[in-house]
Amino acid sequence: MSIAYDVKDLDLAPAGRLRIEWAEREMPVLRLIRERFAAERPLAGVRLSACLHVTTETANLARTLQAGGAEIVLTASNPLSTQDDVAAALVSHYEIPVFAIKGEDNETYYEHIHAALDHKPHVTMDDGADLVSILHKDRTELMGNVIGGTEETTTGVIRLRAMAKDGVLRYPIVAVNDAMTKHLFDNRYGTGQSTLDGIIRATNVLIAGKTVVVAGYGWCSRGIAMRAEGLGGNVIVTEIDPLKALEAVMDGFRVMPMHEAAPVGDLFVTSTGDINVIDRHHFEAMKDGAIVANSGHFNVEINIPALAEMAPEAPRRVRPSVDEYVLPSGQRIFLLAEGRLVNLAAAEGHPSAVMDMSFANQALCTEYMLENADDLERTVYTVPEDIDQEIARLKLKAMGVEIDVLTPEQEAYLASWEAGT
Ligand code: ADE
Repeated sequence: MSIAYDVKDLDLAPAGRLRIEWAEREMPVLRLIRERFAAERPLAGVRLSACLHVTTETANLARTLQAGGAEIVLTASNPLSTQDDVAAALVSHYEIPVFAIKGEDNETYYEHIHAALDHKPHVTMDDGADLVSILHKDRTELMGNVIGGTEETTTGVIRLRAMAKDGVLRYPIVAVNDAMTKHLFDNRYGTGQSTLDGIIRATNVLIAGKTVVVAGYGWCSRGIAMRAEGLGGNVIVTEIDPLKALEAVMDGFRVMPMHEAAPVGDLFVTSTGDINVIDRHHFEAMKDGAIVANSGHFNVEINIPALAEMAPEAPRRVRPSVDEYVLPSGQRIFLLAEGRLVNLAAAEGHPSAVMDMSFANQALCTEYMLENADDLERTVYTVPEDIDQEIARLKLKAMGVEIDVLTPEQEAYLASWEAGT
C-alpha cells in the first residue's frame, strides 16, 4: 500500500468493514447522495482534509466524498473517539489515508492534524474547529489553497463565529451544525441515546431511581435529560440561560444551581460547551460514589485537574472507562472516559440513522461551497434552506412516511392577508 497513514492495526480491517456496511443500512440519504456523486463527480480533484470522529458513520461519509471525486484524508477530532477497526478498514479497503489511534496522547493528536494538513486541502471539514484553528495559527502557508470549509458541531461553530467576529477567519465556513436536519436530530436524539448508552456500557448501573443531574439544556442536554427520564431517572437540570431554564421547568424537570444539585445527584452529565461546570466545591459536596461524565465536545466541563489535586492518590481504573478518585474524606467519585465525550469514548457515538442526515448535510454543503466559492466571504454561513428541506424530504421517503401537500386553495389562503375572522 502506497498511501501514508497512522492507524493502530491493519489486521482489524475486516471487522471494521463489516461494521461500516452495517452502519450504511441506516444511512439511506447518504447512500442516495453517494450514487449521484459517483455519476456526477462534483468533487473531482478536490483535496479535502477532514477532522472528524473516526466512526462507522464517518467512514460512510468519507466513501461518499470519495465517490464524488474528492481526495480525502481523515484525522481524529478527539483522542478517545477513534474506532480502530474502522480506521484500518478505511486505509486497507477504501484506500483513504487515516491518521487516528484510539487513546493517542495530545502530542500525537496534533501530529495527526498536521499530517492531514500536509495534504494541502482545498476544503476543510471539522468537528470542533481544531483543524481550522491549527491551520490559522501554525500552517498559514497553506491558506492560499483553501476554498472553504464545513463545521459539524456546536462548539466548533461558536469558535468559528468568534474568529469571524475578530476578523481573523480567512475563508468561508458552512455551519452544518445549524441545519435543522442536523441539530434537531443528531444533537437531541443522537446525543440523548448515545450518552446514556456510553454511561450504561461503562458502568452497567441502573438509571431507574437514580437522581441524574444534567448540566445545560441546549439540544444535546435536552436529549440526555429526556432519555434519562425515559429510563426512570429523576432528572435535575442546571442552566445559566433563563429561557432554557424555563423550558426545562415546563418540560417537567427540577431546575436548580449546580451547588444545590451536587449533594443530591447520583449521576452527573455535562453538555454545556463551557469550562469547569463541575468544579472543586461541587466535588466536595457530592455523595460518596457519585458518577460524573461529560458529553460536551471538550474535556474541560468537569474540572479534572482540581479533582486530581483533591485526591491524594492517583485514580484507580476500576473498569474500562471508569476511574475512581478517593478524596481525603474517603468519599469516592467515579469519572467516566477521562471526562471526554462519554458517548464516543465509551460507546459508538450517535446512531447511524441520525448521522445520515448530519453527513448528508456535510456532503451537500461541500458541493454547495465549491459551486458558490466565488460569492462566499470569509464568514460563517448557515446551511441553505433548500438543502435542509431536501434532506428532510429524502429521510421521510426512506422511512416510508408520506405527508400532506397544500391544496391550491390552502396555498392561496396562506399567501393572502384579506381573510380574517
Ligand atoms: N459525533 C457523534 N456521534 C458521531 C458518530 N457516530 N460519528 C461521527 N461523529 C459523531
